[in-house]
Amino acid sequence: MKQQMTVERENEFSYEIVWEDSFEGLKDAFGPLDPIGKKACIVTDTQVGPLYLEKVRSQLADLFDTVTEFVFEAGEASKTLDTVKNLYTHLIRHHFERKDMLIALGGGVIGDLTGFSAATYLRGVDFVQIPTTLLAQVDSSIGGKTGVDFDQFKNMVGAFHQPRLVYMCMDTLRTLPDEQFSSGMGEVLKSGLIRNPEYYKWVLANHKKIQARDTEALIKMIRESCQIKKTVVEHDPTEQGERAVLNLGHTIGHAVEKLMNFQLLHGQCVALGTVAAAYISWKRGLISEEDFILIQQGNSLYQLPVTVKGLSAEDIIKATKSDKKMEQGKIKFILLEHMGSAIIDRSVTDSEMTDAVRCILQTGDQV
Ligand SMILES: NC(=O)c1ccc[n+]([C@@H]2O[C@H](COP(=O)([O-])OP(=O)(O)OC[C@H]3O[C@@H](n4cnc5c(N)ncnc54)[C@H](O)[C@@H]3O)[C@@H](O)[C@H]2O)c1
Ligand SMILES: [Zn+2]
Repeated sequence: MKQQMTVERENEFSYEIVWEDSFEGLKDAFGPLDPIGKKACIVTDTQVGPLYLEKVRSQLADLFDTVTEFVFEAGEASKTLDTVKNLYTHLIRHHFERKDMLIALGGGVIGDLTGFSAATYLRGVDFVQIPTTLLAQVDSSIGGKTGVDFDQFKNMVGAFHQPRLVYMCMDTLRTLPDEQFSSGMGEVLKSGLIRNPEYYKWVLANHKKIQARDTEALIKMIRESCQIKKTVVEHDPTEQGERAVLNLGHTIGHAVEKLMNFQLLHGQCVALGTVAAAYISWKRGLISEEDFILIQQGNSLYQLPVTVKGLSAEDIIKATKSDKKMEQGKIKFILLEHMGSAIIDRSVTDSEMTDAVRCILQTGDQV
């Protein structure tokens, strides 16, 4: 059932995304990376490790000279420079050199931290992504954004570093908790909204199959989300312009994420932020009221929030100002020009944002 897609930019990077239903294709997939004579360090967390580390290690043990493991506590709280430091120490102790590589086995936290460590250890070593959450498969494992949180600032320290391979084992999604699956759907819905209206409608229409984690439906869905991200990233790998559309829902989403002290998952916050961005788009006459309602319904179908309790509009607006997506004091806000097309807008006012935030702060269920 192997499927594959190449992400590339001439003279800069080229890597395969591979879909398989087990880890058995790993040996073949690693072949082009010349593993002979090299060391590999599998980086994973305390939740994913017991489930998949041995399966991956046994596939790679024959290929590499040495395979080591670095396991850290699962969760966003570990995405820090302290964990990076411990990983550097592990690599130095095991004499990792420039030719050796890191392998990220886990969700977005593992991918971001491993990628950042690979970008900086010895000024850059190769790394491979083996994403095991839906969010990591549709979003964070491709595109080369890596980084860690710093104090209360999310993703404040980072680097662009493209992986050499992305290997998605679809079976891993079977053990993913429902809430995590739902969080990944936040990014899936976002990708449809920014680039492909038919896909967005397909995701809504097929929610039963998708939520039953039907492999065929999942591959179709994940492939299209990756296709959308691939196209955007190939055009603009370091976010000089167009790539920013991937941040739909993220300005307000990140603010909520921070203020809720990470009690809500990333994709849940993105889904909320998307409702707020859609609200501004509707009020500006870019999308219709029906479209706006459809976006709220899309969230509800996938158990994603349309409102949040316990925060104030003022605090959310304030928190958006410390977001990285600022340019000369102005927020680069992503709006929907119409369903399936996002645009970067620097003219969103505080008052428009306040109205949008009030809409997601309402307690009554609007759908
Ligand atoms: N680099 C990017 O472009 C990008 C894009 C989006 C999000 N992100 C980052 O990704 C992170 C969120 O990623 P995430 O949602 O994958 O979180 P995560 O990595 O914390 O994984 C969520 C939880 O699921 C567990 N888990 C992972 N795979 C599992 C499986 N198959 N079965 C059972 N449990 C499993 C993990 O151990 C963890 O407890 C955030 O830090 C966010 O900033 C980065
Ligand atoms: Zn995101």
